Formats: sequence, structure tokens, C-alpha cells
Amino acid sequence: MSANNSVYEAIGGMPTFRKIVSGFYKQVPEDDILGPMYPDQDFAGAEDRLLWFLAQYWGGPALFNENRGSPRMRMRHMNYPIDMAAHDRWLKLMKNSLDDIDEETLPMPYRQMIWQHMNQLAGMLINKAP
Ligand code: HEM
Repeated sequence: MSANNSVYEAIGGMPTFRKIVSGFYKQVPEDDILGPMYPDQDFAGAEDRLLWFLAQYWGGPALFNENRGSPRMRMRHMNYPIDMAAHDRWLKLMKNSLDDIDEETLPMPYRQMIWQHMNQLAGMLINKAP
């Protein structure tokens, strides 16, 4: 997908992705499952990393590759015990964040695409039973 005909462009670029990740990360520090997973409590840094990844994935600037290298998401999540409860909680906090963003900023077809990709990826990141 080219940069001028991308989901990234269609939903207004960086400011919209920033809304998505900040709405997510504002809930994480207080979350009983996800909060303790961040050993150094670098929530601002983690928010940026998720922003870079999402913006890049949807056709924006390649900030994740520039700052972090190849995405390799499953490998990058191996250090964190991701069971079904953590999976469900991540998606729940993200759903809360998306629901807080109005339809004009994040219109339905794009909202669904982004949500579906997150669900798919979250499923692939489960690395602990049950
Ligand atoms: C399934 C539940 C998930 C859990 C419990 C989880 C947890 C975590 C944790 C604890 C980190 C380390 C934070 C940091 O960057 O310092 C992290 C990093 C990250 N996560 Fe997740 N995550 C999940 C799903 C996802 C999904 C669905 C995405 C993408 C849509 C994602 C994208 C990222 C990215 C881009 C990073 C930064 C990786 C890096 O730069 O090394 N995560 N995640």
C-alpha cells in the first residue's frame, strides 16, 4: 500500500494513531494484568513504540523500522507471559480506546480494519497456556 493511498492517510495520519495509542496506554499503568508486565515502567516509551508500529503498518512513515528494526512481533513478545487473560485484557483496553474516538476521526471501515488486524496479531502473540 503506497503512502498516498493508505489507511494512514485516510484517517488523518499521526494525530489519529496518537489518539489510539494514548487512549490505550492511559489505562495500562493501573491495569492489574498489563501494568506489572512493564518492568521499567517506561509507559511513554512503550506508547511511542506502539505508535510507530501501527503508523508504519498502515502505510505511514517507517518509524518502527528506523527506531527499532524489523517488527518480529512474536519474538518481541516472548519475554512477556501472554496467556488468554492478557490477550483479552489487551484487546479490551484497546477497544475502550477505539470506542472513545469519534466516527468522524476514525470512520467505520478503517476502524474495523485496524481492530481486525489487532485481534489477529494478538492471537498470534499468545505464548502461555491456558
Ligand atoms: C496480546 C496481548 C499483548 C500483550 C500482553 C502485550 C504486551 C506488551 C508488552 C509488555 C510490551 C513491552 C512494552 C515496551 O515496549 O516496553 C509490548 C511491546 C510491544 N507491543 Fe505488545 N502486547 C500485546 C499485543 C500487542 C498487539 C496486538 C500489538 C500490535 C497491534 C502489539 C504491539 C507491540 C509493540 C509494537 C511493542 C514494542 C516492541 C518493541 O519495540 O520492541 N502488542 N507488548
